Amino acid sequence: MKKFEEIKFNIGELKGISKKNIEEHLKLYGGYVKNANLIFEKLEEYMSDPEKNMYVIGELHRRYGFEFNGIKNHEYYFKSLEGGAKKLPENSKLKKAIETECGTFKAWLDAFKILAMTRGVGWAVLAYDKERDQILHIWVDEQHLGQLNGVHWILALDMWEHAYIYDYSTSEKKKYVEAFFDNLNWEVIEKNFIEHNN
Ligand SMILES: [Fe+2]
Repeated sequence: MKKFEEIKFNIGELKGISKKNIEEHLKLYGGYVKNANLIFEKLEEYMSDPEKNMYVIGELHRRYGFEFNGIKNHEYYFKSLEGGAKKLPENSKLKKAIETECGTFKAWLDAFKILAMTRGVGWAVLAYDKERDQILHIWVDEQHLGQLNGVHWILALDMWEHAYIYDYSTSEKKKYVEAFFDNLNWEVIEKNFIEHNN
């Protein structure tokens, strides 16, 4: 069975998000890699006697979406913080798509920040539905609940408390949202969009 490997991210000094918080967060990412691999190992083990282990096998399958997306979601997040803060390129295709959908870039950004303030832990996501040629917002509870079938992730903001708890109290999560955007490498986000918008 093909195993997941941890990606090493090259994240420099950030504004408003400490090295300590990033380091701890990367450890959690490593945990998803470890546990996604573990689920497969355990499945192989329990499949030696499916009749006896039917309940456990079912539950392992059920939890796979949590571990799998826990890896993928974090990879979008950490990659978008690599390379330092960078603005959207001139003649950005994504900006154009956002303006078509939301009127102005500012209107979109304001709406996304409201999405990020959704109560509970999860992800604020800008996604692209290629089939319908439409960008859309998704709130994903935990790592996987509410994920929409077949859409491509463009921008992912981790809104679990572990993403900011070393830097901000829980009542200050708005500041973390601002810090995220202060450090965002929009060139990566543009690339995520262009990959599917062709
Ligand atoms: Fe996280």
